[in-house]
Amino acid sequence: MPVARTHSIALVGVEGHRVAIECDIENGLPTLLLVGLPDTALREARDRIRAAIVNSREEWPQRRITIGLSPASLPKRGSAFDLGIAVSILVSAGAVPKAAAEGLAFFGELGLDGQVRPVRGVLPAAVAAAAAGFAMIAVPQANAPEAAIVPGLRVAGVTSLTALLGWLRGRGLGKDAGVRILEGGGSGEPGPLGAGGGCPGAGTVRGEPASTAARVAEPAPGGPPDLADVLGQPAARRAVEICAAGGHHLSMLGPPGAGKTMLAERLPTLLPALDLAAALEVTSIHSVAGTLPPGVPLLRDAPFCAPHHTATKAAIVGGGSGVIRPGAASLAHRGFLFLDEAPEFTRDVLDALRQPLESGEVVVARSGLTARFPARFTLILAANPCPCAQGAGPAVACVCSPGMRRRYLARLSGPLLDRVDLKVEFLPVSRAELLSDRSFAEPSAVVAARVAAARERAAARLRDTPWRVNADIPGSELRRRFPPAAGALAPRARALDLGQISARGMDRIIRVAWTLADLAGLARPTAEQTSFALGLWLGVGR
Ligand SMILES: Nc1ncnc2c1ncn2[C@@H]1O[C@H](COP(=O)(O)OP(=O)(O)O)[C@@H](O)[C@H]1O
Ligand SMILES: [Mg+2]
Ligand SMILES: [Zn+2]
Repeated sequence: MPVARTHSIALVGVEGHRVAIECDIENGLPTLLLVGLPDTALREARDRIRAAIVNSREEWPQRRITIGLSPASLPKRGSAFDLGIAVSILVSAGAVPKAAAEGLAFFGELGLDGQVRPVRGVLPAAVAAAAAGFAMIAVPQANAPEAAIVPGLRVAGVTSLTALLGWLRGRGLGKDAGVRILEGGGSGEPGPLGAGGGCPGAGTVRGEPASTAARVAEPAPGGPPDLADVLGQPAARRAVEICAAGGHHLSMLGPPGAGKTMLAERLPTLLPALDLAAALEVTSIHSVAGTLPPGVPLLRDAPFCAPHHTATKAAIVGGGSGVIRPGAASLAHRGFLFLDEAPEFTRDVLDALRQPLESGEVVVARSGLTARFPARFTLILAANPCPCAQGAGPAVACVCSPGMRRRYLARLSGPLLDRVDLKVEFLPVSRAELLSDRSFAEPSAVVAARVAAARERAAARLRDTPWRVNADIPGSELRRRFPPAAGALAPRARALDLGQISARGMDRIIRVAWTLADLAGLARPTAEQTSFALGLWLGVGR
């Protein structure tokens, strides 16, 4: 019996690698051997594939079947090799013409009954298949629109092994029938384009309550959440706008009920849609995590991820047993990671955020396998000034001592607060503000237009670089290529003399100053922008 070969894709993090599946059938005791570092799930595949083939009324070869997956060095996890393995057995047994599986990659799980079941990670698998030169990929029908996003790749959406085999047999004879074919890159039916992705498991889907302490503010009657819902708090509103324009990390400190959660949740309404490259990156991560909303093959909005403070380290930075899953930090890639009630998160979790904040990615290493997940997010922290959450000021019932307050906020300081460019303090909203005319509060659309214009200025300046927003620019490049106007550094130099800022702090201030210049339509920051940026870095009241 000739050796048959089919192909599939192994995912390591969000990167797909081509895998060859070879099947050899020899005389001998009926067995099915899998070689090439299969994990437990893959061993279970043995029973699934056998049942699926038998229940699809195909003949199971009663001989010694050896399946090899190569390269052997690549760890192969999950159930998506089922389709490729089943087809390789049937090609080797002579039940399917060899030519039928050529130029085709398979990615999908089989049920015991022979149905093809949806799997995670179809988008990055399709991206890898196209890059490896496959003209076509066969995937579960339910995942086909996701694969069809990839330009130039044809996609066969299959519902059952029977349908797949019927189509392959016809295909060997030059006919394409029995499965739905989508043309990648738009001419197929990519379905509705999605809004933000959720991050269940790690926390909440955007717009859903994260906890009793983080209720979603009432939206304006008949409308989605909008910045116009937030009354007063002018300094915080300004900080949120700067944060959206430049991608700067933001911390919000203030008594409960001042609008911190409310403002954070309205940040996504200020950002433009993701460009296609970013949308593919973001969607690949959510595809691997299994957090793509049904019927949404491509996420077009910047994600907003708000994990609860009880979340584990694995839920935040990724990990898990078996298949390594991205965490909230990666699900927030190119969007916002919102830690509400930030000091309540465990030290472990807060420390773990250091790596993605430094490098823009999470690296999970385990048993010879290194998975990388992009994790370039804008961090939003909200905190009450003290553990009792009664707030400050003379009229409130807070009994916390200054020492308790200091210790409470110190939980944030080392790892995170050092990296925050914008620090705002909230005062309680006054009755007058709450009673004021809502029509004076600027709506999201107006602020989003300013943010979009500022982002365009920055993008034009950063045209030939890998960076998109000011917060992305590394310190060395910032000093070399984007110095502020002469004299603009004077206020900064004074603070440096007073020992208020570190070298890293100076870079943060220059980045924010650039964003302020972009928002103001200036060619470069002047002393006005740098001193305002310094104030934001040191922390401002409203
Ligand atoms: N600035 C504000 N403008 C309008 N409503 C507010 C404001 N601040 C608080 N509220 C009201 O109080 C509720 C709680 O606000 P929230 O944002 O959760 O406060 P915080 O996170 O600061 O504790 C909101 O749902 C909203 O109804
Ligand atoms: Mg809150
Ligand atoms: Zn207190």
